[in-house]
Amino acid sequence: MNAPYVAKTQAFAIKTECRRYEGRVAIVTGAAQGLGRVIARRLAEEGAHVVMVDVQEEKVKRAAVLLQRETNQQFLGFGGDLSVAGVADEIVAETLKAFGRVDTLVNNAAALIRLRLVDFTEELLQKAVDWNVWNTLRCCKAVLPHMIERRYGRIVNIGGEAWRTGAPFHTLLAGVGKGSMVGLTVTLAGEVIGQGITVNCVSPGGIETAADGDPVPTESIRDPSWTGPGVMEELARLGAAARISMGRPSHPTEVAAAVAFFGAPEASFVTGQHIGVSGGMAMI
Ligand SMILES: NC(=O)c1ccc[n+]([C@@H]2O[C@H](COP(=O)([O-])OP(=O)(O)OC[C@H]3O[C@@H](n4cnc5c(N)ncnc54)[C@H](O)[C@@H]3O)[C@@H](O)[C@H]2O)c1
Repeated sequence: MNAPYVAKTQAFAIKTECRRYEGRVAIVTGAAQGLGRVIARRLAEEGAHVVMVDVQEEKVKRAAVLLQRETNQQFLGFGGDLSVAGVADEIVAETLKAFGRVDTLVNNAAALIRLRLVDFTEELLQKAVDWNVWNTLRCCKAVLPHMIERRYGRIVNIGGEAWRTGAPFHTLLAGVGKGSMVGLTVTLAGEVIGQGITVNCVSPGGIETAADGDPVPTESIRDPSWTGPGVMEELARLGAAARISMGRPSHPTEVAAAVAFFGAPEASFVTGQHIGVSGGMAMI
């Protein structure tokens, strides 16, 4: 009997020769681990100085030190809960103090809380909205006055394909959280279209987030109560039946490549767009 097929990600990190961020400054949220860490690294590899923000203060500061050493670009790491009023404003103020500019904001921070709507406690419901909607809203609002003044800015929001494939357990994370990222992207893009600022959205499918390059990975912030009983088994069953997906999770560098395009100066005529980086999980 044939062994069951196990989908595996690419065993490599995709490298870039591009230097589109020379002299630029980027803020990446949720950058202590996973995709955010890889995006931060990618932008630095292209010449950016990077401000990393995460509620996991120690971890994000450690990542900033390591990435500065690895890329020879300047990194700053800040701890803080971005869903709380004032935190994003402080980060933007610190960034301007240190570098005098913010060219690119990547709104990556989110909480992967996957439960059926009926299984949410009041507390988790609140957290899911706070950490999947308010983070991004507050970061956009904080950075816009500076971008409007300079008549330049690139905002990239991280979505997730489950908002349009309708996956179970994703009503809060994807339906409310990622669906609102797409809506926010389009409406905000329209609002700032005459001010040199673009707003776009990248939606991953499944990411091999453990491949984030952290030499000493620590425990994830994801609380066990954020994943309901049987969720992973059910999602694996549905994933196996996926029609047109490439049948493997993405390496985070594959997602970071799309983010780097939208966040770069050259993407000057692209705004209000959404792209799935999901191996064909959803098309168009
Ligand atoms: N992992 C996947 O398969 C997948 C699939 C689709 C979309 N996504 C999206 O990609 C992005 C990154 O995913 P990941 O797997 O790397 O997630 P992750 O959970 O590994 O990392 C998210 C980071 O955001 C931080 N964070 C969350 N809320 C915050 C807040 N309020 N203030 C500051 N920091 C906060 C966390 O501490 C964490 O370090 C998220 O937007 C996620 O929804 C991931």
